[in-house]
Amino acid sequence: MKNENIVWHPTQVTKAQRAEQKNQRPCILWFTGLSGSGKSTVANAVESKLYETGCHSYLLDGDNVRHGINKDLTFTDEDRIENIRRIGEISKLFIDSGLLVLTAFISPFRADRAMVRDLVGDAEFIEVFIDTPIEVCEQRDPKGLYKKARQGEIKHFTGIDSPYEAPEKPEVVVKTAELNIEECADSVLAYLKANGYI
Ligand code: ADX
Repeated sequence: MKNENIVWHPTQVTKAQRAEQKNQRPCILWFTGLSGSGKSTVANAVESKLYETGCHSYLLDGDNVRHGINKDLTFTDEDRIENIRRIGEISKLFIDSGLLVLTAFISPFRADRAMVRDLVGDAEFIEVFIDTPIEVCEQRDPKGLYKKARQGEIKHFTGIDSPYEAPEKPEVVVKTAELNIEECADSVLAYLKANGYI
């Protein structure tokens, strides 16, 4: 094992103290859905509302994270798994710091989302399924990527030639094709309030 001589060093200020100071129960709001489904848009709207109510949060977004810490990763299955593993570990650190963490990644594989759930525990993992039909995503095509994927210019594109495994029991389901952004964000906030996170 590479790190057999490394032991976890407990910190003096605890996770509970950090959370208590912020008057909130830290958790991950894990947004999952197809490209163009509205993950980032809804996550941003939720974070704005959290900010307005005085909550402390941080949003990790696929396109941004892939410019920095994960810029070495591609869209093969193997690299997507590593993408989610790193995001899971980073989110866990942010939870430890007492924050409400929002993540917006396609995260197409059930097993990887389950891995993050196991990493932090059920009580701190809220899976938010942005349930937008692929036809709608493809019609929106905000970055022109579906068009390129259909023309074969992008390989392994989720929903075209790479699979998306929808959540089986998500904590929250958001239908962006039926509700406006405000309503979508409110349904996530309602879950957080009803379950004592904020
Ligand atoms: S994930 O599958 O590994 O979770 P992630 O959320 O980080 O994906 O990145 C998805 C974003 O990368 C998309 O919103 C899109 O803008 C861009 N992208 C580029 N190539 C692909 C691809 N082959 N499949 C999906 N998204 C892609």
